[in-house]
Amino acid sequence: MGDIRFEGVSKSFGEVAAVNGLNLAIAEGEVYALLGHNGAGKTTTLRLLLGLLEPDGGAVTVFGCDPIKDGSTVRGMCGVLSEDVGLYESLTVLDNLIYYADIYGMCRAESERRIDELLRTFAMQDKKHFLVKGLSTGMSKKTALIRAMLHSPRILILDEPTNGLDPVSTADLRTMLLRLAKEQGTTIIMTTHNLEEVQKMCDQITILRHGRNLFTGSIAALQDSGHYMEHGQFSLEKLYMELEQGAGRQ
Ligand SMILES: Nc1ncnc2c1ncn2[C@@H]1O[C@H](COP(=O)(O)OP(=O)(O)OP(=O)(O)O)[C@@H](O)[C@H]1O
Ligand SMILES: [Mg+2]
Repeated sequence: MGDIRFEGVSKSFGEVAAVNGLNLAIAEGEVYALLGHNGAGKTTTLRLLLGLLEPDGGAVTVFGCDPIKDGSTVRGMCGVLSEDVGLYESLTVLDNLIYYADIYGMCRAESERRIDELLRTFAMQDKKHFLVKGLSTGMSKKTALIRAMLHSPRILILDEPTNGLDPVSTADLRTMLLRLAKEQGTTIIMTTHNLEEVQKMCDQITILRHGRNLFTGSIAALQDSGHYMEHGQFSLEKLYMELEQGAGRQ
């Protein structure tokens, strides 16, 4: 069961249908982006995948597991960067990371090795003993990204990973995520508003609108299609704008 599936999944909050009959199929090792306006249902979709919310209808399957019935198995497979980075402000970077490595059940020698490796990769070694409350937005985001990757999870769930990162850090993160997907078969599911990044690194996209699929397709197929061209190249922004304007008129 090498995939992640949403079949006709719905989730409402009172009158608001946050996710509304959503279908998704994400293959293992894919880099998959969920796109859409503020309030389109992206974060709710990720919370359903993690079993943090129970669907009102439909089925979610994560590598053969039901995120509600097998919640700890599913969450154990995942490294998560949530919208609010969720770090302990009054602890240092290192103490935050050690705390989570312990929760992940990593032995101390292994967690220290891995923390040093990831701090180096994210150019954060000199912030190791800083309190999280003294970090800039981008540095907090990097700390939370390191936490998500500590235990080399099978699935990385990243809610707006590049928001707040500078261009160099964004490019470094892209290189690292692509390497994880290609070399280790890590499945990466992200939400973002950065369409340029998506075009550079994602295999598949789904654009959500009012909790429904407005569009699902592969970046490679879009690039080959000859449609939505700008300056002789495929432009995801153009596709996005045209679809959103079309949907807005419905
Ligand atoms: N816990 C909640 N209680 C009530 N309403 C909620 C809750 N979570 C989400 N919603 C509503 O569901 C809809 C989808 O929200 P969601 O957070 O999934 O959007 P999003 O696509 O992640 O948006 P953004 O790009 O702003 O992060 C919104 O209308 C939101 O107000
Ligand atoms: Mg969101």
